Amino acid sequence: MYTIEKTHEIADKIFEIWVNAPHVARNARAGQFVIIRTDETGERIPLTISRASGDLVRIVFMAVGKTTHALAAIKAGDAIADIVGPLGHPSEIKAWGTCVIVGGGAGIANTPCIAEALKAAGNTVIGIIGARNAGMLILEDEMREACDELHVTTDDGSKGRHGFAADVLKEIVAERKVDAVWIIGPTIMMKITSMATKKKGIKTFVSLNPIMVDGTGMCGSCRCQVAGKTVFACVDGPEFDAHEVNFDQLMQRQRYYMDQEKEALARWNQHVCSCGEGR
Ligand SMILES: Cc1cc2nc3c(=O)[nH]c(=O)nc-3n(C[C@H](O)[C@H](O)[C@H](O)COP(=O)(O)OP(=O)(O)OC[C@H]3O[C@@H](n4cnc5c(N)ncnc54)[C@H](O)[C@@H]3O)c2cc1C
Ligand code: FES
Repeated sequence: MYTIEKTHEIADKIFEIWVNAPHVARNARAGQFVIIRTDETGERIPLTISRASGDLVRIVFMAVGKTTHALAAIKAGDAIADIVGPLGHPSEIKAWGTCVIVGGGAGIANTPCIAEALKAAGNTVIGIIGARNAGMLILEDEMREACDELHVTTDDGSKGRHGFAADVLKEIVAERKVDAVWIIGPTIMMKITSMATKKKGIKTFVSLNPIMVDGTGMCGSCRCQVAGKTVFACVDGPEFDAHEVNFDQLMQRQRYYMDQEKEALARWNQHVCSCGEGR
């Protein structure tokens, strides 16, 4: 069992949890993730390692379905059954020159760590973070600290620039020489935003979020198409060349279990109402 040291709702439906997991914390690098189970009968879900500090690992997640709602209901001092990691390849950190890191929604979770690692490798780092509205924006202070320059956007204009992160990225690549870009967020956002760098041939990484089960390359749930080939995001990724990813296939595969997900969330809500758990 792994104890939860701290937990906090940092934005609307977005939570941070610090888990005591020394084996993960001591080996974690920017861009990697963990797979957790809240209890012994629970499903496994992948979550990015947002930060590691001493023996603790921070995960930042949005409550979207049954397991993330169950995780959000956990209190400091409680424990989760498993946390496996660090999994996947770390981000490609080297001296690129000028890098832009774009985070959207809960995808901002690990952008401060990637920005810090790129900065430590001698790069100029420009950050762009976007959310639906001001209440859903996360980790702005950490990004401001990690980046040489930070741009904030909201879809409804309630904070920063009114519009999408893609609009800012388009302007930056039109005006300046950019050597590498990271885009992390919902699949549709990564698809659209990565178009801004395609024509210019700027190396662009996206962190793919297919459904995962084992995280070891054995079950095949996380298979994606990159450069016309089948890859397993858990062991070959999660970061891939954005201009080679088949985003439409990924979005189609993400919808496979929609009915079951809805049913599981409805059952969870009924359970919460009847026993008061999580309230
Ligand atoms: C490498 C990786 C890192 C991720 N990091 C984060 C993060 O840092 N913060 C965050 O909020 N979310 C992250 N996600 C997405 C997160 O795993 C899903 O939101 C979570 O699994 C939803 O589970 P649920 O039971 O609450 O919702 P469900 O109702 O089961 O599903 C809601 C949505 O999540 C997707 N999903 C469901 N099960 C899985 C699964 N086992 N693996 C991946 N996606 C799934 C579904 O396609 C659906 O769109 C990451 C996904 C991957 C692959
Ligand atoms: S999660 Fe099973 S192969 Fe990647």
